[in-house]
Amino acid sequence: MTFEEAKEKLGKFGQEQVLKYYDELDESSKAALLAQIENTDFSILKHTANAGKGDERGEFSPLAAMQLSEIEKRRDEFYNEGVKTIREGKTAALLLAGGMGTRLGADGPKGMFDIGETKHVYIFQRIIENLLDVVKETDTWIRLFIMTSEKNHEATVEFLKEQNFFGYKEDRVVFFQQDMAPACDYNSKVYMEEKGRIATSPNGNAGWYSSMVRAGLDKILTDEGIEWINIFAVDNVLQRICDPCFIGASVIAGVSVGSKVVRKAAPDERVGVMCLEDGKPSIVEYYELSQEMMDAKDENGDPAYNYGVILNYLFRVSELAAVADDRMPLHVVEKKIPYINEKGELVKPEEPNGYKFEQLVLDMIHQLDSCLPFEVVREKEFAPIKNATGVDSVESAKELCKKNGIEL
Ligand code: UTP
Repeated sequence: MTFEEAKEKLGKFGQEQVLKYYDELDESSKAALLAQIENTDFSILKHTANAGKGDERGEFSPLAAMQLSEIEKRRDEFYNEGVKTIREGKTAALLLAGGMGTRLGADGPKGMFDIGETKHVYIFQRIIENLLDVVKETDTWIRLFIMTSEKNHEATVEFLKEQNFFGYKEDRVVFFQQDMAPACDYNSKVYMEEKGRIATSPNGNAGWYSSMVRAGLDKILTDEGIEWINIFAVDNVLQRICDPCFIGASVIAGVSVGSKVVRKAAPDERVGVMCLEDGKPSIVEYYELSQEMMDAKDENGDPAYNYGVILNYLFRVSELAAVADDRMPLHVVEKKIPYINEKGELVKPEEPNGYKFEQLVLDMIHQLDSCLPFEVVREKEFAPIKNATGVDSVESAKELCKKNGIEL
């Protein structure tokens, strides 16, 4: 794209500030900025008009989870089916590691964070070791996709190579980078993160499927006959991945997606809850739960909206293509965005100063026809690290690891 073309494109979207420092840039930075302008979708900025309005939701109704008692009764049936599915090479794992981990505030990718006390225990290590348990159990090297972002790709790849993938077979690992979206101020003007770079951030945890397809990796799915993908968050250090029982239960139930869930600790706990929305699977956020929903009971007299999601889903691959990304809503999220100020200095704000744009996995689920919420024991499988201290923190996750016999 030429300078004139870039100027015209920016003018159309009221974003002329992007070229403010253009004359100060060297030739390669000029070319990089023009390329970034060409590849940036500025039309998404109009969505800031919806900021703070909340999403329009349909009518919620309960979706019963498969509870531990039933899982226990049918454990062998589920386990055998899951092991068979894994051994046939029909299951892949996909680590969502494209996030910025701003709440934790550590430098570098979240997975490189070390929770060890007497030795190194990196988050990535915990995850890979958990997956290795299944590899050993099934004698199958499960295909592992790792989604990074432009912000952390190199550091992630370099670190995992340096650590020999913590024992995982390198040729079974495939990295890809998720797409980015521009970040803007409260007046919908994009920020600059450098004089020659528009501020961007990863496009949300649902960016994985479209980014994977753009990277041409759906070919691996087809070529290898992968029918199920278990996507999971980087920050749950007790995460069980490609759990044969969960896979078996989802296959036998014949659903479009399986979702690991935990029983809520309290009716108002801050977790998204699996439910139906206008008759289709969905997730209601904790702040959207009305008192009536919190009080609602199922046929056994238990709370009807009682199972929180832990970002561990098993998607049926054949249904993903229909989940076109242009149908997915774009969420406008208020965040702290580092930017170049009037004087050309980099500012790292302490408070939110604008918006990022994200697509969320819950919207993918809502486009599918059926979902199996599958209960797991919270203390054994859910130790998220979101914050440095307090709830869902390094401290609470370490405590849970120790309770599960993991040496730190
Ligand atoms: P979070 O929603 O906790 O976001 O991600 P985050 O970026 O890690 O942390 P904060 O909000 O900045 O503190 C849940 C999971 O989804 C992944 C994260 O890496 C994590 O595994 N994720 C999130 C992506 O892969 N891409 C994204 O764009 C957002």
